[in-house]
Amino acid sequence: MLLSFHSYKGGTGKTTFVSNLGVYLAQQGQKICIIDTDVNGPGLHSLFDIHFSATLVDFLRGECKISEIVYKPYRDMDLYIIPSKACEEDISSMFSSPGEAKDKMLEVIKFLNKQLQVDHILFDCSPGINKSSLLTMNIADRATIVSTIDVQDIRGTYILSNMSSKLGTRANLLFNRTPKDKSEEINGIVAEFSKKLGTSLLGSLTFDDTVARTWSRKLVIVEEKDCDYCQQLRTIATRLLMS
Ligand SMILES: Nc1ncnc2c1ncn2[C@@H]1O[C@H](COP(=O)(O)OP(=O)(O)OP(=O)(O)O)[C@@H](O)[C@H]1O
Ligand SMILES: [Mg+2]
Repeated sequence: MLLSFHSYKGGTGKTTFVSNLGVYLAQQGQKICIIDTDVNGPGLHSLFDIHFSATLVDFLRGECKISEIVYKPYRDMDLYIIPSKACEEDISSMFSSPGEAKDKMLEVIKFLNKQLQVDHILFDCSPGINKSSLLTMNIADRATIVSTIDVQDIRGTYILSNMSSKLGTRANLLFNRTPKDKSEEINGIVAEFSKKLGTSLLGSLTFDDTVARTWSRKLVIVEEKDCDYCQQLRTIATRLLMS
């Protein structure tokens, strides 16, 4: 399955979630690739401590082969990472038409399916409404919108879910950093909101100090797998794959 992760505002927790999710699924024996399509503010490589030479951006620019941009951070897991390096352009503007950009991304997907036989590809997208993110949403089988309960995010989530329905990609909704107290009340509110949008609600991840203290330097699913975040992630992962 091709699963993309989006948000309207930045910092809602996409990169953290997609990284921990990818490792969790790989720990379960699945072959996973995570692609950093946030070419204007990439961060995936930090969580996996990847010191890259070639990246997705170099491949899209025609400066290297696909095989050179795929990294395998753990010896004992079928987890592959395609990092990005920061650039000013969005993915579409590297090409003469949006169709060409889409074809190039599909080439990457074809390689991962044929050469590495991955089960799932996870796309860590850039925040906001932009061409790179919409291109990925268009390619994906499911788009997960990661939101906080801040009204700025909520309003943007409305916009993003409309966009996904226009593109014909089914949207899931995931709330992150929700306060631990009043969680029952919050779950009721977000369920209602999700119903209104016609998205399927994957659940909520509460604010977790263990995650906050990692400062994106390590993955809780590897080092703190009993924390609240990891327990909630496992439930959400099952729902996501069944969505
Ligand atoms: N449930 C959580 N509890 C506490 N801290 C969290 C939680 N989820 C993420 N964080 C922290 O929030 C910060 C932002 O997370 P992250 O980088 O994953 O967001 P992002 O949506 O990818 O941001 P951007 O839009 O800028 O790419 C990180 O420091 C991360 O450790
Ligand atoms: Mg990010």
